[in-house]
Amino acid sequence: MDTGKEQSLLQLRNVRKVFARGTIDEVTALNDINLDVYPEDFVTIIGSNGAGKSTLLNIVAGVFPPEMGGKVIINGDDVTSLSEYKHAAYVGRVWQEPTVGTAGKLSLEENLSLALLRGKPRGLRSSLNKQRGELFRSALAPLGLGLEDRLNTPVGTLSGGQRQALALVMATISKPALLLLDEHIATLDPRTAQVVLNLSDMIVRRERMTTMMVTHNMELALRYGNRLIMMHQGRIIVDIGQQDKQALTIDDLVSAFEQAAGERLTDESILLSHR
Ligand SMILES: Nc1ncnc2c1ncn2[C@@H]1O[C@H](COP(=O)(O)OP(=O)(O)OP(=O)(O)O)[C@@H](O)[C@H]1O
Ligand SMILES: [Mg+2]
Repeated sequence: MDTGKEQSLLQLRNVRKVFARGTIDEVTALNDINLDVYPEDFVTIIGSNGAGKSTLLNIVAGVFPPEMGGKVIINGDDVTSLSEYKHAAYVGRVWQEPTVGTAGKLSLEENLSLALLRGKPRGLRSSLNKQRGELFRSALAPLGLGLEDRLNTPVGTLSGGQRQALALVMATISKPALLLLDEHIATLDPRTAQVVLNLSDMIVRRERMTTMMVTHNMELALRYGNRLIMMHQGRIIVDIGQQDKQALTIDDLVSAFEQAAGERLTDESILLSHR
C-alpha cells in the first residue's frame, strides 16, 4: 500500500499550545506539531509526564483550539475553531478515570443514548429512539461482561473495568472518525486492564476505527497498534511505522528516546513504567 498517496484522516499543521502565557508558569505544551494519521491507523503514543500527550488529544477533541496559525483537519473538514460539542461528531474519547465520560447516576441505557446523540443534529434524534434497545444490546454483548442485561442499572454501580468497557462502547457507538484513548487502563488492576485493552483492540478492529492511544507502558505501546509515536517537551520526537515497529524492543525505544531527545532516560522516568 502506498500510504504516501492515501488521504490522511487527521491532519495537524503547525499546532502549538501555550498555557499560562505571560506568567512565570508559562509552558509550551505543544511545540509545532505536524502529524498525519491515516484511515485505520492505530497509533500508540508514549512520552514522559508533561510531554504534551493529553494536550495533543485535547486539541484533536476540540477541548481548546491551538494557537493562531495552527490547523486541525479531520476527514477533510477544517475543525480548528469548532466547539468541543461539534468535534464530538468526529471524535470519540475514553479518559483515564472511569468516572469521566460516563454519568454515574444515569442508567447504562441513558448513558448510551446520550453517547449516540452526541454531535448529532436534533432532527435525527427522535428517529433513533425506536431501534435503540436492540442496538445497545448488540453493542454490549460482544464485551462478554453481561452488561447487555443490565441496561437499567445505574452506571455508578459498575466496577471500574465494566465502566471503562461501557465508556469504550459509548465512545464508538456513533461511529466517529477517530477514537482517542488517554491512558484509559491506567487506573485498573492489571487483570482488568488487560481485559479492557483486549476489548479496545477488538472494537478498534471490528469497527475499523482510526485510533490514538496514550499509554505509559512501552510494552503495550509496542504490542498494540501499527504505529508508535514518542513525545517529549511538546514535540513528536519519534514516529515509527508498522514495518519497523514489529521488530522493535523496549531497549530500542529507550535508545530512540535518548538519541532523539539528546538526554538519558533516567530510571525514575515514567516512560519506563509498566502500567
Ligand atoms: N489546562 C492546563 N493549564 C495549564 N497548564 C497545562 C494545562 N494542561 C496541561 N498543562 C501543562 O502542559 C504540559 C503538557 O501537559 P499534558 O497533560 O499534555 O502532558 P502529558 O504528556 O499528558 O503528561 P502525563 O503523562 O502526566 O499525563 C504540562 O507541563 C502541563 O502542566
Ligand atoms: Mg496525560
